[in-house]
Amino acid sequence: MLPEDIGPQRLVTLLQGRRLGVRHEVWESIDSTNERARVLAEVGVGEGFLVLADAQSAGRGSQGRAWESPPGSDLYLSLVLRPHYGAAELPLLTMAAATALVEVADHRLRGETRAQVKWPNDLYIGARKCAGILVESRSSGSRCDFAILGIGLNVNRRHWPAELRENATSLLEATGRSQSFDRGIVLAELLEALERSLAQIESGQSSLLLSRLEPRLLWRGEEVECSGLRGQLLGFDPSGALRLATVEGTRTCVSGSPRRVG
Ligand code: BTN
Repeated sequence: MLPEDIGPQRLVTLLQGRRLGVRHEVWESIDSTNERARVLAEVGVGEGFLVLADAQSAGRGSQGRAWESPPGSDLYLSLVLRPHYGAAELPLLTMAAATALVEVADHRLRGETRAQVKWPNDLYIGARKCAGILVESRSSGSRCDFAILGIGLNVNRRHWPAELRENATSLLEATGRSQSFDRGIVLAELLEALERSLAQIESGQSSLLLSRLEPRLLWRGEEVECSGLRGQLLGFDPSGALRLATVEGTRTCVSGSPRRVG
């Protein structure tokens, strides 16, 4: 049975009238919500369809890694999106999700600590990762047929396997609360924030989205190395790529993951 906070009745009430998530399915356990959303997208489900699960047996992380997804504590969700813009703008979807995650985390943290984004797809609170984003898509030429926006957000987890213990956190742990957060409410808030962020991309205002996110970029102003480039991390370029001040001038980094050096 599904826990009450993400039970079917609860979700119908919480997601009523939303552009994202009003049509949804919720699973007690599934291999991967991204995989299920992809199958649904292939057979034509529309923009905003949400797949949510209490647990995943084969949760996917970025770069072929697994996303550990035990039951009863966190949010594992995937949205089917059918962007009108081209495949080249898809990296902005990750930025939209990162912005929404920062907002949701900030609301819970109440200014005590600030959530930050480790470009491109990780939400950090302090030195620990609290959420990850995985965008998968199918394109025909420069047109994007659909994109699957997957988010794993550690909400109430307290117990970690040895390999994650030093580097992971949840909203509950980061706030030091004893009472669990209601995942249904966190989900509804996340989808609402995501609707706002996506609307900025769709209305050609992605520069506003990126300027909101830029101050929350982890290691901004510091010396980093990313995909063979080394320099001071300046912020984003208009496509959401990283801008670095290197000894040869300003360069952009479109893939990989920065690490702090020096
Ligand atoms: C990362 O490695 O940081 C990305 C993690 C993305 C995990 C989420 S959980 C819901 C969705 N379904 C998956 O299989 N993966 C994403």
